[in-house]
Amino acid sequence: MLITEQLPQVALNKMNEIHNKEAEVINELYQAIEEKDVDKVDKLFKEFIKDVQEHFAYEQAQMEKYNFFAYPIHISEHDMILQQLSRLEKEWEKTKDINLIKAYLEGEFLPWIINHINTMDAVTAGYLAQFIKE
Ligand SMILES: [Fe+2]
Ligand SMILES: [Fe+2]
Repeated sequence: MLITEQLPQVALNKMNEIHNKEAEVINELYQAIEEKDVDKVDKLFKEFIKDVQEHFAYEQAQMEKYNFFAYPIHISEHDMILQQLSRLEKEWEKTKDINLIKAYLEGEFLPWIINHINTMDAVTAGYLAQFIKE
């Protein structure tokens, strides 16, 4: 397992659910990496990318709907990750080198997501919680 502790929680349950589900997707992918199962990594890596895209799209739609003041900064952090993932996907298609994905998850994505939830997502959820009643 890559993510062994619960990710930081924010003020909106829906966002926490999305983050928790992403942690599960990442852990499944990480297990396939440890098993060195290339076909499984291929399938789960694609699922992971789709999950990240949906995760970001949900947050962006809410920020747009409720005119969140820091929308451009939040989006630019998401865009940076989407670009990294697109580059990584191209490298993966060429090389099928499991270590590329392993190094990215450990060295880039995991520290990023924890920091991003603690900063951008926490502030965003605090703002959105005024409007979205769960
Ligand atoms: Fe998020
Ligand atoms: Fe976010």
